[in-house]
Amino acid sequence: MTFEYADRIKRLPPYLFAELEKLTREKKRCGIDLISLSIGDPDLPPPTFIIESLKKEASDPKKHNYSFSQGEPDFREAVTGWCKKRFNVDLQQDQVVALLGSKEGIANVARAFINPGDRVLVPDPAYPVYAQGSTILCDGIPVPMPLLEENDFKPDFEVIKVDKAKMMFLNYPSNPTAATVDKKFLKEAVDFAKDNNLMLCYDNAYSEITYDGYRAPSILEIDGAMDVAIEFHSFSKTFNMTGDRIGFAVGNKQLIDGLTKVKTQIDSGPPVYTQKVAVKALGAYSGSEPPEFLKKNNLILQERRDLLVDTLCKLGYKVEKAKATFYVWVNCKCDSIKFVAKLLDVGVAVTPGDGFGKYGEGYVRITFTQPMERMVEACNRIASAFK
Ligand SMILES: Cc1ncc(COP(=O)(O)O)c(C=O)c1O
Repeated sequence: MTFEYADRIKRLPPYLFAELEKLTREKKRCGIDLISLSIGDPDLPPPTFIIESLKKEASDPKKHNYSFSQGEPDFREAVTGWCKKRFNVDLQQDQVVALLGSKEGIANVARAFINPGDRVLVPDPAYPVYAQGSTILCDGIPVPMPLLEENDFKPDFEVIKVDKAKMMFLNYPSNPTAATVDKKFLKEAVDFAKDNNLMLCYDNAYSEITYDGYRAPSILEIDGAMDVAIEFHSFSKTFNMTGDRIGFAVGNKQLIDGLTKVKTQIDSGPPVYTQKVAVKALGAYSGSEPPEFLKKNNLILQERRDLLVDTLCKLGYKVEKAKATFYVWVNCKCDSIKFVAKLLDVGVAVTPGDGFGKYGEGYVRITFTQPMERMVEACNRIASAFK
C-alpha cells in the first residue's frame, strides 16, 4: 500500500544534509576514508561541568516529569540573566520560551503567524529551515533575499521587494557564509521590519562561536527591536550539545506567546534535567565574558580556520578569515557540484553552495569541525586535488 504525501511535503526540495549523509555513508561502505567537512556538528566535547551536571540532574527521578511548555521558571530566569550579562538586554520571564533546539523554534514560529499563501522573506543562501521547515511547511511562500558577495553577504534593503511579506528571517553570524554584522546593519534591519510591518526572526545560533576578539551583537540591543523581533539561541554550538536539543527564543512578547501557543499543542518543552544543565551552562558566564572552556574551544577552532583558509588562499581562492561560525564559504570559480565532486575523489566531503539556495551556486561551504590532525590531512588532500 502507498500513501500520498500532503502537497506541502511534495513542495519541499530534498533536505540537503540528509542527501549528504547518504553519500557519506555510501563512500564509507566502499571503504573510503572520507573526511567530512560538510556538517555543522562540533567534534569537540561538551565541557566536563556540563557532563557532570547532566549525570547529576538525569539521575534525579524528580526531573523526569513533563516540563512547562514555555520552559521551567529557573531556566527562563537564567536566560533573562544571561541576556542582561551578555548583551545588556532587559527581558521579563514571559519574553522567553525554551526550545527543543533553535531549529524547532524557527520552524514553529511560522505556524503561529503564517497563513497559506503568506510571503516570508528568507536570506539566500541560508540555513534551509527558514524557507522549508518554517515557511513551506506552513503553506507559506518563501521570497529569497539574495546575499551577494559584493554586499558582504547582507541583504540590500533598498532593493528588496517586500511584496506583502509578513515575516523576515535573518541570521548573523551566518550559516553558510560566515558573514558577521555590526549594530548599524541591525538598526537598518529593525527599521526595515518596522517600516514594512514585518515580524523579524533573528537567528543568533552562532553568537558565541567567534574569533579575533569579535563579539556578535543581539538584535534586541537595537532601539525598537523589541517591537518587532524574536531572537533564537542555541546551546548546540556554544556548549557542543547538538544532540541534547536545547535552545531558547527571546524578544517581542506577542511573538513569544504565539510560538508558545504552538508548542503547547505539539511538545511539552525540553526535558527538565536538560534545562537544569542549561541553567548551569549560562551561569558559567561571568559578566559578558565567555567562560574559559569556550575561549579555549574557540581558539582550537580558530587554529583550524587559519589552516583551512591559508590552504585555500595558497591554491588561489580568495577567502577571508571569518570572525565567527565554523564555516568557510568559498567562491569556487566553477559549478559548486564540480568542486564538490573533485574533493570527493580525494576523500573530502564539503557542501555545495546551491544546497543553501540558488544564490549559493558557485560557492561551497567547508566546515572545520574535525580534529586538527584530520584537518591537516583534509587540507593536504584539498591541495592535491587542485594542484
Ligand atoms: C544558522 C543555524 N540556526 C539554527 C541551527 C539549529 O541549531 P539547534 O537546533 O541545534 O539549536 C543551525 C544548525 O546547524 C544553524 O546552522
